[in-house]
Amino acid sequence: MSAPDPHVSPRLTPADHRALSDEAKRDPQAYWRKVAQRLDWIEWPNKIHDATNGWFADGTLNASVNCLDRHLATRGDQTALIWQGEEADNIIRMTYRDLHERVCRMANVLREEGVKRGDRVAIHLPGVTEGIVAMLACARIGAMHVVLFGGFSAEAIADRLADSGAVVAITANVGRRGAKRIPFKATMDTALGLRPLSVRRLLVVSVTDDSVPMQTGRDAALEPLLEAAMPSCDAETMSANDPLFLLYTSGSTGKPKGIVHGTGGYLTWASYTQEMVFDHQPGDIFWCTADIGWITGHSYVVYGPLANGGTILLFEGMPSSPHPGRWWDVIENHKVTTFYTSPTAIRALMREGDDVPDARNLSTLRVLGTVGEPISHDAWTWFHDVIGKGRCALVDTWWQTETGGIMISPIPGAVKEKPAAATLPLPGIQPVLVDEKGAPIDGAAEGVLCIDGAWPGRALTIWQDDGLFQTTYLKPYPGHYFTGDGARRDEEGYFWITGRVDDVINVSGHRIGSAEIEDALATDHAIAESAAIGVPHDLKGQGIVVYVVPRDPSAAEMESRAVKAITAKVGRYAVPERVLVVPDLPKTRSGKNVRRLMRKIACGETEGFGDLSTLANPDIVPTLIEIAQRATS
Ligand code: WT7
Repeated sequence: MSAPDPHVSPRLTPADHRALSDEAKRDPQAYWRKVAQRLDWIEWPNKIHDATNGWFADGTLNASVNCLDRHLATRGDQTALIWQGEEADNIIRMTYRDLHERVCRMANVLREEGVKRGDRVAIHLPGVTEGIVAMLACARIGAMHVVLFGGFSAEAIADRLADSGAVVAITANVGRRGAKRIPFKATMDTALGLRPLSVRRLLVVSVTDDSVPMQTGRDAALEPLLEAAMPSCDAETMSANDPLFLLYTSGSTGKPKGIVHGTGGYLTWASYTQEMVFDHQPGDIFWCTADIGWITGHSYVVYGPLANGGTILLFEGMPSSPHPGRWWDVIENHKVTTFYTSPTAIRALMREGDDVPDARNLSTLRVLGTVGEPISHDAWTWFHDVIGKGRCALVDTWWQTETGGIMISPIPGAVKEKPAAATLPLPGIQPVLVDEKGAPIDGAAEGVLCIDGAWPGRALTIWQDDGLFQTTYLKPYPGHYFTGDGARRDEEGYFWITGRVDDVINVSGHRIGSAEIEDALATDHAIAESAAIGVPHDLKGQGIVVYVVPRDPSAAEMESRAVKAITAKVGRYAVPERVLVVPDLPKTRSGKNVRRLMRKIACGETEGFGDLSTLANPDIVPTLIEIAQRATS
């Protein structure tokens, strides 16, 4: 049975926004039924949502068909993907027809490797087109992709391969950064050699002609297989609640959590939010700068814009590389209309001075967006005025890996922006602020941010640990979904995100658990105890300061040992700003580390610590202050 006519979202006005929000509140089932019409279903879902069966339980569909096949008749020759290499003349353009064919070939390669529905395929690639192709190919055959961020260490990769039970992995010979080569294949080789894993085949993309050792029987070059594969491929019929992918994120425990997203609910959410928040229009060139190794890359490089038939841009390089104006050149040359990036990138670009963007034609820009961390008033204003010339919408979008897509954000034309505010929930979303006891707080107030009610994008579970999903998100404040963030609500009901209330550190928009770093440090026997603390950082938003207590007080080179342990277990992106080697950590009488005190000291505070007499070891405080001061001076 086919769905009713597709729902086309018009450009929204403030009145529309209010009306949609009211409609969603009044009759959520009817509202989400209408929203679900934006997808092509094989069997239309008669069940919309209930607590037991989840979203669209009796609906069936295929995500790659929604992102590719359904566009072929109307926009097969439209550019789906523009890939821009670091060098200006290194460009690949793929139409929907090209991308469809490439995905079909990749899907056939995976099927020939014996990958079946429900199997996991790990993807560890630099910013090349094959990452997107591989994700959609997995979706086509019902396999779950597990994209691993390029910055992960071999041990971090091995942990995730083991947890996911991936049977096939895809990597590149190397990544490129200017003349530098990043050893993707070598890192994967190390990961696969660390312990017995279920990966039976490693497919290798040749990004450059650098040759890398190949292990007979396990490794294969991908390109020849793609060339030999059939250019068409039947798509699996998936239930809405069949998992689409698994993506690891950090939380309060040392072990990364495999967040599982379903097919129907997630894709509905990615598509709905991409259109609404970015005011998606035909002809838009949509550039989301996120790595596909993070959820932003999943929802707004791949699934959202492609489900909506958009044109996406993928840039291989970093901001300011090889020169400070490179990103602005990309916008000018490709006539980018929609530019979605992180506050960290904005802060870095802002430092280069206004002359750099002012020398480029950025007049095609229509909507700007930020995500991943709180944006300062300054950075917001610079982005709005200098890049947007005051005439672009600027959406500060709040959401998380677990929510699948944007939850709180301005909507161009419909929600008035305030600098550095995430503003209002999208129609259908009900944020609530609660106090420490879990009681909802009304009106203008600050509290812990929770979400009430259901929305299609919410993760299904944590891979192989539904109990942990329940205890992490649903048990802390019964009846509410707990986000881990704090927020303030103003008189107009606008939300301002204040940052994490748990032990998660946000470095350049990358989520890192304190416990993850502490577990890494515990692998070095010379370290008796440690604590990782997030402190404000001008460029990165937050930086990490690590307190380390050596087993032997006279031990040498503790700083470099600590950095080495973190680099090996987590990755270079988690390397701390400072390592403070201390004789002891401040503790309560019951032996708990007093993190609040350690944070203040790490931030350079020397007084105003309150009553220290409750500490088991108050004498340690002056020593910690002295060590912290020495480290910053
Ligand atoms: C955490 C989620 C959402 C995709 C990228 C990160 C922080 C996210 C904002 C924002 C302030 C933000 C929160 C959130 N965060 N967006 N607009 N303003 N903080 O996804 O890795 O799952 O991290 O990022 O702390 O909980 P993630």
